[in-house]
Amino acid sequence: MTAPNQTNANVASGAVSAAAPSGASASSAYAASASGSSATQASGVAAASAAVAARAPAGASAASAVERPLTQFRSMPLSIKVNGEIVGPTDVPAGLMMIDYLHEYLHLTGSRLGCGQGVCHACVVIVDKPDGTSEEVRTCITGANFFHGKSIRTIEGHAKRNEAGEVLELTPIQQKFLEHFSFQCGYCTPGFVNAATVLIERLKRQPVAKDKVEETITEALNDHICRCTGYVRYYEAVKEVVLTTPGLVKDAAQ
Ligand code: FES
Ligand code: FES
Repeated sequence: MTAPNQTNANVASGAVSAAAPSGASASSAYAASASGSSATQASGVAAASAAVAARAPAGASAASAVERPLTQFRSMPLSIKVNGEIVGPTDVPAGLMMIDYLHEYLHLTGSRLGCGQGVCHACVVIVDKPDGTSEEVRTCITGANFFHGKSIRTIEGHAKRNEAGEVLELTPIQQKFLEHFSFQCGYCTPGFVNAATVLIERLKRQPVAKDKVEETITEALNDHICRCTGYVRYYEAVKEVVLTTPGLVKDAAQ
């Protein structure tokens, strides 16, 4: 599969090599660009290319002068299990972020791109490890190829659905978030659902002492940012699930 942006970049690069006359000066290139003769993006790139060629050492070809990492497209195969279904192998650009793979290749748009810098945790998915444990991973700063061979869950994989994809039943966490009016715009909600789910699954394996419940929930949700400040209601919803689900809490004496 080709990546549209990279393909465009390659095409543009070829056009630049063809368009840049050897020996064109930077000033003439800028003058041509500014003169309004076909004010297209390609002419702008050609002008920049000619300027670069003019600065290149004597003997260097125009093609080598404009070579940049972005024009060196490299793809890698990606096979992954998503919400129980094996996907791939698919050739994806080596630098493609996982959030873009989910959105653009799989059309799973429930994972939210918030800050894009690894801060807000709106974009997390759950990675299920072979040992039965799971963890959240931020998809805005993690390349798609990191997930090669892994099994993940996205927000689309939580509720029970029928064959037509219609939701039949929410998970307890999703249901309690609704009942507690935990979110307003809902942009952060997929991340909170994933975080709380990882927590609940961990407590099924390792129940927490009752007097540690509150700090355990705080720790689990702490990295997630909600711009609508729904923190307290998220927290209360998770606390209700923890306290009402058998087996998640043990007595302090145990
Ligand atoms: S969008 Fe990934 S951490 Fe903010
Ligand atoms: S509900 Fe809007 S960002 Fe959290």
